[in-house]
Amino acid sequence: MLAEELVKLAEASRGNAYVPYSGFRVGAALLAASEKVYTGCNIENAAYSPTNCAERTAFFKAVSEGEREFTAIAVAGGKYEKVNEPCTPCGVCRQVMMEFCDPDGFLIYVSRGGGMFDTFTLAELLPKGFGKPNLNK
Ligand code: THU
Repeated sequence: MLAEELVKLAEASRGNAYVPYSGFRVGAALLAASEKVYTGCNIENAAYSPTNCAERTAFFKAVSEGEREFTAIAVAGGKYEKVNEPCTPCGVCRQVMMEFCDPDGFLIYVSRGGGMFDTFTLAELLPKGFGKPNLNK
C-alpha cells in the first residue's frame, strides 16, 4: 500500500470522529505487516480523560485482532470538516507505537491536506523512547 493511499484512508476516517467537545476530528490508518489496514478515529468523553486518540483506536483494533507487527500509520486531523492541519501523534500514542514498532523502521505520515504529508520515523518523534528492551536488561 502506498503512503498516499494510507493518508487518504486516514482523512476519510475523520468522518467517524466522535468529537462533541473539541470539534477536532482526527483519523488514522494503520498498516500492519500482514498488509491489512486498520482505521481509527478519536472518541471523546464527557469526563474528558477517557478520550481515545485516533491512533490508539487504530492500534487497539489491530492488536485485538491479533496483529503484532506494523509498518506505518497515517494521521489526519483538523478543526474543520475538510481541512487537515498538521496533527502529530500525542505523547501517549507515541508510547503505544513504541510497544509494537521498530523506532527506526516504523513510519508516521502526517497529512497536511491537499494530498501533501510529512514523513517521520517513530525515533524522530520519540527519541530515546522507553520500551521492552529496557525491561529485559
Ligand atoms: N487527538 C488525536 O486523536 N490524535 C492526535 O494525534 C492528537 C489529538 C484528539 C484527542 C482529542 O479528541 C482531540 O484530538 C483534541 O485534542
